[in-house]
Amino acid sequence: MQLLPSLSVPEDLLKEDGNLSPSSLFDCDYKQCWFEIGFGSGEHLSALMRRHPDYAWLGAEPYINGMAAFLKDIQDLDRQNVRVHMDDAMMLANSLGDGSLDGIYILNPDPWHKKRHHKRRIVNPANLDVFSRILKPGGKLIMSTDVPYLADWMVTHAARHKDFKWLAKSAKDWQSPPNDWVTTAYEVKGAKGAKQMVYLFFNKT
Ligand SMILES: C[S@@+](CC[C@H](N)C(=O)[O-])C[C@H]1O[C@@H](n2cnc3c(N)ncnc32)[C@H](O)[C@@H]1O
Repeated sequence: MQLLPSLSVPEDLLKEDGNLSPSSLFDCDYKQCWFEIGFGSGEHLSALMRRHPDYAWLGAEPYINGMAAFLKDIQDLDRQNVRVHMDDAMMLANSLGDGSLDGIYILNPDPWHKKRHHKRRIVNPANLDVFSRILKPGGKLIMSTDVPYLADWMVTHAARHKDFKWLAKSAKDWQSPPNDWVTTAYEVKGAKGAKQMVYLFFNKT
């Protein structure tokens, strides 16, 4: 956790005014900038950092043990291209400027089972507007879940959004991950009673 202060997005930049440029956060040039929302223990994010050292990475995770695991995992990496936020991802999303990102990952988000809690689901119409705003045209929104009704919810809301196009051409495309997919511990364990993981790839049009 010693790395947290130096890698955190400074609080005074989290103004939620849509003006934060990611390039002001990193001490290096980068080819693309991606944001992982709710990264858990961060094994997906750290694997992608290793795969693409020339990209910049943003990650949000309020769970302290998850953040600690991620920071431990990346202690031997070059870290000038990563910044984290240990709180609600939407504080950072709302702060970012238009067209800041090449892609967003939201993997196995908390389902918020009860109907009355649907506004707390990270994928909801208002947040999809924000994701659309901060993605570049052609940017990717990549989501996964093994909770059936949440899969329905995410597909329905993202596909209905005017700025997102679902890239699946057949059932195979959402039932199985691409060859280079990084599997998380959560994905292996799965939700109670879960049978099928779904992989949802959307493009910002
Ligand atoms: C079921 S876990 C999945 C973790 C990881 N994405 C994975 O697939 O292994 C959901 C994670 O989302 C985080 N989370 C929930 N709401 C969040 C929010 N508003 N902003 C950022 N992270 C959030 C939780 O703390 C939790 O670690």
